[in-house]
Amino acid sequence: MLQTILDSQHPIIQAPMAGVTSPKFVVACTEAGLLGSIGAGYLDGEQTKQFIQEVKKLTTKPFAVNLFVQEEPQIDIEVLQKARMALQPFYDELGLSPVQSVVSKEVFAGQVQAVIEEKVKICSFTFGIPSAEVLKQLKEHGVYTIGTATTLEEAQLVEQAGMDAVVLQGGEAGGHRGSFTAPLQLIPLYDLLQQVAGKIAIPIIAAGGLVTKKDIQKALESGAQAVQVGTALLVAEECEISPLYKNAVLASKEQETTITLAFTGKPARGIANDFTKRMKDATVAPYPLQNYLTTTIRKESAKQGNAEYLSMWMGENSHLVQHAGTVQSIVDKWL
Ligand SMILES: Cc1cc2nc3c(=O)[nH]c(=O)nc-3n(C[C@H](O)[C@H](O)[C@H](O)COP(=O)(O)O)c2cc1C
Repeated sequence: MLQTILDSQHPIIQAPMAGVTSPKFVVACTEAGLLGSIGAGYLDGEQTKQFIQEVKKLTTKPFAVNLFVQEEPQIDIEVLQKARMALQPFYDELGLSPVQSVVSKEVFAGQVQAVIEEKVKICSFTFGIPSAEVLKQLKEHGVYTIGTATTLEEAQLVEQAGMDAVVLQGGEAGGHRGSFTAPLQLIPLYDLLQQVAGKIAIPIIAAGGLVTKKDIQKALESGAQAVQVGTALLVAEECEISPLYKNAVLASKEQETTITLAFTGKPARGIANDFTKRMKDATVAPYPLQNYLTTTIRKESAKQGNAEYLSMWMGENSHLVQHAGTVQSIVDKWL
């Protein structure tokens, strides 16, 4: 039973949400009986280590660390130039220039090292499958590995790579698509569960649009051994995102989210706003370059309290999120 391995009270995983999860939030989730997850995607090795140590100071319960499988972007200078030009009106309006940053595979190696050195028991991945060498290293240290898939083909690739479990991410899910094969597909969660259940032997974790007790039960009856929830936990008191973001989740209406490449260069689901609309047909640099190009725009908009240029990731069912109490009070409604 997957839940025994996860060592959590409930078969529910707090979705790793890079840029959103803080030690306080992860610990509140573990204390409420979920498997807490550190979204370490935007951290380097040292920052990942510090985050793990902070969580360990606050709880003895197990938790997971989630990493982005890194790919070196193919840099086409012309595309990069066009992508910068497309963002120029936003830089001009806000009086900014883009942040330059260095992409490096060493960052990923440092994160894996932090997971091993800190004896983290569970490590999940999105954006692809880590190398056989990394998986072997993690396995040798007894780390339980979880991949992310958005299609049957990806789920089978995760299993063939020897990973221990797979998150099936339905098209409704908030945040980045974990997809790593083309073409991009947005298969609704229950269709995806139907396509994959019985075709792979490793445990399935269902993710995407799960907000209510009924949703969670249905996923667990449709072939999933556990669920992973993101958006419904964003509004928790212990979640340290801005009030602007929380209010956007609570005020969101049906069909207000969209899939956009404009913020990071990878498709992700969030609230549709001026930025996603104006950038709809613009040239976008590949991930993570677009992420660096839009960093100052997002930071300055947050400072100005302007929600129109912010990336506010949330799932398609954000309009069903109504409850904004403690993590424990949100979890109580699922039981
Ligand atoms: C704000 C936000 C950030 C996310 N960041 C990550 C991440 O760092 N790693 C990851 O594997 N998934 C990430 N996801 C996707 C979640 O793992 C999960 O698939 C999704 O939250 C499920 O859909 P829901 O938001 O409707 O519950 C993120 C989701 C959200 C909403």
